[in-house]
Amino acid sequence: MELKSFFTAHWEYLAVKTACELNIFDLIEQGNYSLDLLAAKGKFDNEFLHFLLQALHNSQFINYENEIKLTENGTILTENHPKSLKYSCILWAEEHLCAWQNLSFSLKVGKSYFEMQGDENYFSYIENNPNELKIYHKAMYEYARDDYEKLPEFIDFSNHQAIMDIGGGLGALVSIIAQKFPQIKCYLFDKEEVIDLIEESVFEKVIGDFFVMIPKIADALILSRVIHDWNDEEASLILKNCYEALPSNGKLYLIENYVDKEDSSFALLNLNMKLMTSGREREIGEYIKLVENQSFIFLEMIKLNNLQNILIFYKK
Ligand SMILES: C[S@@+](CC[C@H](N)C(=O)[O-])C[C@H]1O[C@@H](n2cnc3c(N)ncnc32)[C@H](O)[C@@H]1O
Repeated sequence: MELKSFFTAHWEYLAVKTACELNIFDLIEQGNYSLDLLAAKGKFDNEFLHFLLQALHNSQFINYENEIKLTENGTILTENHPKSLKYSCILWAEEHLCAWQNLSFSLKVGKSYFEMQGDENYFSYIENNPNELKIYHKAMYEYARDDYEKLPEFIDFSNHQAIMDIGGGLGALVSIIAQKFPQIKCYLFDKEEVIDLIEESVFEKVIGDFFVMIPKIADALILSRVIHDWNDEEASLILKNCYEALPSNGKLYLIENYVDKEDSSFALLNLNMKLMTSGREREIGEYIKLVENQSFIFLEMIKLNNLQNILIFYKK
């Protein structure tokens, strides 16, 4: 990589993120706009817009010639695309970017960005910031809809009467299970402000706090991308509450990013986790130990995709 270009590589992403944030891809999809018309429609400065459109053209998100048209990647960044990644694109330049810009402070103080701001953690911060809360959960939904699409091909959940997705966000994963196994009673468990964002659902919503109590209403629990947000002590409390919520022979499905220490992304993923949360990415053996310490018995591991595996445990 050419070193001087590397220093400004983020400009390209921030141009695309801005186009998402200002609904520019949505506007281009909806109308046959010239530069002037698009500027008028969005109330944008012509010259800034012209250079932004040129940058989007160079990054192959649009064709900016006589007409302005979306490319395939540009289409994926529109709001209503069935596999839209619009909010995933926006997310990384919101609080995550502020946290990365303050890495030097975290490095000196040994605290996450949110602890330094006086918040308990990222989740308590977004709880009080409705716009951030919405962007975060829409982004998580988009990731989950894609990552868990094939889950029913790997796991036959049909032996369960009731499944509850703990910290399930807007319910992408539990919707996939509910649609594939309509005979199973499906629940989504999350905090009140998150549950309030859900409009229609094919599952039942349960408001709660996994550090306090998880209701005993399911014979299978799913924890997906939850444990990595917390340190060992906090994670153990969540797992203990899961254990108490399950009947004997009940199952726990743990889905996480299992990143090998040798993997080139491991260090950056961990820096991100430490800036944002009290958690970290763990290796498979560490997860198994953490869960077994709460009396669960490890059954098997199933590879879901390039990044994620499913670890299956049961309660004796
Ligand atoms: C990283 S997201 C994972 C979302 C989803 N499971 C997925 O795989 O995309 C973590 C989830 O934990 C939820 N959460 C955080 N603290 C919680 C708490 N104390 N009780 C219940 N849910 C909580 C968040 O609202 C969020 O939905």
